[in-house]
Amino acid sequence: MGFFRMGAGVAKRRLFYFLVALLITTAGVYLMHDGSMNPTLVSMGRFSLFNRTLTTIPPQPPIPEPVACIFPYVDIFDPNIMKLAGLDQTPLKCDHDFLPDVTRMDGLVLRVNSSKLKGDLRLRYCRYRNITRQPYKDHSVVYSRWSRKFTKEVKLTDEHEFFQVACYDGKYKNRVVSKAFYSLVPKNKHLESLFNMRIMKRAAEFNPLETLNIVGVALDGLPRHQMIRAMPKTYTHLTERLGSFDFQTHGQVADNTFPNILALLSGFTRAEVNKWWSWKNPEDVFDLLWHDFERAGYRTLYSEDNPRGAGFYWGNRSFMFPQTSYWNRPLELAMLNEPGFIRRKASCAGPRPVAEYQLDYMTRFLDRFPDKPVAGVTFIINLTHDDSTKAVTIDEHIRNFYGTLEAKGHLNRSVVMFFSDHGQRWGKIRQTYNGVVESRNPFLILTFPDWFLKKYPDIARTLRTNTQRLTTHFDTRQTLIDLMYFKGQEPTPPHRGRHGISLFREIPASRTCEAASIPWDQCLCGQGVEKFLDTNSSEAKALAEALLRAVQSRSEPAQCETYRLDQLLQVGALSLPTAWTKEKKRFMVASVRLTVQPGGAMFEATVNMNLNTNETSVGSKIERLNMYKGEVECRPTSLEQMFCYCKGNKEMLKQ
Ligand SMILES: *[C@@H]1O[C@H](CO)[C@@H](O)[C@H](O)[C@H]1NC(C)=O
Ligand SMILES: *[C@@H]1O[C@H](CO)[C@@H](O)[C@H](O)[C@H]1NC(C)=O
Ligand SMILES: *[C@@H]1O[C@H](CO)[C@@H](O)[C@H](O)[C@H]1NC(C)=O
Ligand SMILES: *[C@@H]1O[C@H](CO)[C@@H](O)[C@H](O)[C@H]1NC(C)=O
Ligand SMILES: *[C@@H]1O[C@H](CO)[C@@H](O)[C@H](O)[C@H]1NC(C)=O
Ligand SMILES: *[C@@H]1O[C@H](CO)[C@@H](O)[C@H](O)[C@H]1NC(C)=O
Ligand SMILES: *[C@@H]1O[C@H](CO)[C@@H](O)[C@H](O)[C@H]1NC(C)=O
Ligand SMILES: *[C@@H]1O[C@H](CO)[C@@H](O)[C@H](O)[C@H]1NC(C)=O
Repeated sequence: MGFFRMGAGVAKRRLFYFLVALLITTAGVYLMHDGSMNPTLVSMGRFSLFNRTLTTIPPQPPIPEPVACIFPYVDIFDPNIMKLAGLDQTPLKCDHDFLPDVTRMDGLVLRVNSSKLKGDLRLRYCRYRNITRQPYKDHSVVYSRWSRKFTKEVKLTDEHEFFQVACYDGKYKNRVVSKAFYSLVPKNKHLESLFNMRIMKRAAEFNPLETLNIVGVALDGLPRHQMIRAMPKTYTHLTERLGSFDFQTHGQVADNTFPNILALLSGFTRAEVNKWWSWKNPEDVFDLLWHDFERAGYRTLYSEDNPRGAGFYWGNRSFMFPQTSYWNRPLELAMLNEPGFIRRKASCAGPRPVAEYQLDYMTRFLDRFPDKPVAGVTFIINLTHDDSTKAVTIDEHIRNFYGTLEAKGHLNRSVVMFFSDHGQRWGKIRQTYNGVVESRNPFLILTFPDWFLKKYPDIARTLRTNTQRLTTHFDTRQTLIDLMYFKGQEPTPPHRGRHGISLFREIPASRTCEAASIPWDQCLCGQGVEKFLDTNSSEAKALAEALLRAVQSRSEPAQCETYRLDQLLQVGALSLPTAWTKEKKRFMVASVRLTVQPGGAMFEATVNMNLNTNETSVGSKIERLNMYKGEVECRPTSLEQMFCYCKGNKEMLKQ
C-alpha cells in the first residue's frame, strides 16, 4: 500500500538525485577534458568510434526527462549496420533436404498419409517408441521397445508424452522413409487434484484479483535493435496491433546466458550463487521460480533446444529432477541421438525448424489447460546464439505463433513475454560502435490482454512509463511474482530475492545501474567514447600491452601458444561511470580492442590507467569478439578456450 504513496519527500529526493547525477556527469566530462590527457587525443570525427570503416557518429541523445540512466544513442536503422543485419535471408525451411514426414497428430490419433512419399517409395509400415527421462539423470534417455506395426493410424492414450516414429519402405525392408518426433502434453491424473487444491489454497489465502497465464518465448543473444531490424513482422504486430510494451532500456546483468536466466528464474546474481554452489553440483538448489508457480497451482513448462549447451546445460551441468511439470529435455536428447536428424547447426530437426517444435509444444500446453493457470517459457537457443542475423529467418514463425494464440483465445488470458537474455557477443555488428551498445541491450516485450489494460489503467500507465526506465530480468521476475498473486498495484506476498522491482510499480527515474543490479562493465548509462587515442601513442601502447598480458595470463602455457600483438585496432577513452568519479585521482578508463597471433583472436576489455603513475589494470571482463572453434579444443571449458590457441593446431601447420 504505502509503496505507491509518493510524497513530497520522494519528489525532493528525486530532484536531489538528478542534480547529483548531473554534477557527476559534468565532473566526468571535465575529467576527460583535463589537459593532461590532451596530447594523445584525436577528435571523434576523424576516427569513427569503434570501427574506422564506419563513419557514423552517434548524434546527441535526446533528453526527454531527467532520468539518471541515458543509453548512448545509436540509430537502429543506421545504413552501415543494415548492411550487416542479414535482412536478405528468407524464412527458415527444413523440408527440402530431408525425408517427408508422413505422420501427423490428430487429437490423440497418430495418422499416416503415405501419399506424401516421393518417387517410387512405398510405405510398408510405421512404428513408434516412447522416450522417457532416465531417473535422476539429465543427460540420458530411456527408449521403450518399438510398438507394433501400423500403416494407417494408431490411437494413443492420454499418457503418451514423448515418442519417436519411424516408417519403412515396401521394397527395401530396412530403409526408413519417414522419421518424426512428437511431444504431447499428458494430463497427470495423479497430480490434477493436487494442483486443483493448490489453486483453491491460493484463492483462499491471497484472493488474487486476476489469474493470467504466463507464456514466455526467448531468443538467445539477440539485441533489441537487431530484433527490431530482423523481425519487422513480429515487432509491428506486437507494438502496433497488440499494444505491447517494449522495454527500451533493458539491461543485462552479464554477457552470457546463465547469469541472465538465473536473474529471471532464481533471483540471484551469479556471484551470490557462486558463494554456495559449484558447477559440479546439480542445479536443483536454485529453487527456480517454477516451484513457486507450482505451489500456487500453475502447471509449468520449460523447454530449451540445445541439450548440450545454453541456459542450464553448458559445461555438462544438470538437474537431478525436472524443474517443471512439462520438461521437453528427453525429446531434445532423443532427436540429437538420432543420426542426421538435427541439422544446420541445430536450427532444423528433421523436416521442420527446431523453433516450430518449441512453439508447438507451448501451444499444445496452452490448449491442454484452457481453464487452469499455466506458466511456461520456451528458449530458442541455437538459431540466434552464434549469429543474430538468423532472427530474420524466424520472424514469420514468431508472428504466426502470436496469431495462433490469438485465434485460440489464449492471448486473452495470458501475459506473453518475448525476450532475449543478453545482446550479441560476437560477429560483424558487434565489432562496430553500434554493436558495442547493442551488445548490452537485450529486449523484453510484454503483451497483456486488452481487457486487462482497460481494467487496470494505472498499471498500463506505469508499464508505459517503465518502458523508458532502466530495467533488467530481475524486474521481469518480480513482475511474474506479482502476477502469481495479482493484487493490482498493491504489494503481493513478500518474496525472497533482493533484486528487482516489479514493472507494475514505477521504476524510479533516478535508478542507476548499481541500483538495478547491473555490474558497471555491463552498464550503458551515460557510457560512450569521449575521445579516441592515437594507437601509436605511448598511452595506447601501454594499455594494449596491459591487455595482452592479461589475456596471456589466462592462457594455459603448456597447451596454448604464446600470443603476440597483431594489431591494436582502437583505444577509446570512455566517459566515466558514476562510481568511478568518486575517486579523485586522475585516471583514464579506456576500451581497448586488439587482435593477436597466432589465430587472429580479437579481444576487447576495459583497461584503466592511473595517469600519475602510469599503472594499468584490466577490468574483470575480457571479451572475445570472434568465435573460437577448431583451434581451442585442447582446453576443456569455454572460459579457457576463449584464451587459447592450441599448440600443434592444424590451421597453423597449414600456414
Ligand atoms: C495426404 O497428403 C497429400 C499430399 O501431401 C494431400 O494432398 C492429402 O490431402 C493428404 N490426405 C489427408 C487425408 O490428409
Ligand atoms: C508408451 O507409453 C504409453 C504411456 O505410458 C503406454 O501406454 C504405451 O504402451 C507405451 N508404448 C510402447 C510402445 O511402449
Ligand atoms: C556429464 O555428466 C554426467 C553426469 O551428470 C556424466 O555421466 C558424463 O560423463 C558427463 N559428460 C561429460 C562429457 O563430461
Ligand atoms: C548448437 O550450436 C552449437 C554451437 O554452434 C553446436 O556446437 C551444437 O552442435 C548445436 N546443436 C546442438 C543440438 O547443440
Ligand atoms: C477476453 O476475456 C475477457 C475477460 O475474461 C472477456 O470479458 C472477453 O469476452 C474475452 N474476449 C474474447 C474475445 O474472448
Ligand atoms: C570494420 O567493419 C568492416 C565492414 O564491416 C569490416 O570489414 C572490418 O573487418 C571491421 N574492422 C574492425 C577492426 O572491426
Ligand atoms: C603509426 O605509426 C606508423 C609507423 O610509424 C605509421 O605508418 C602510421 O601512419 C601511424 N598511424 C597513425 C594513426 O598515426
Ligand atoms: C608516464 O608515461 C608518460 C608517457 O609515456 C611519461 O612521460 C611519464 O614520465 C610517465 N610517468 C611515470 C610516473 O612513469
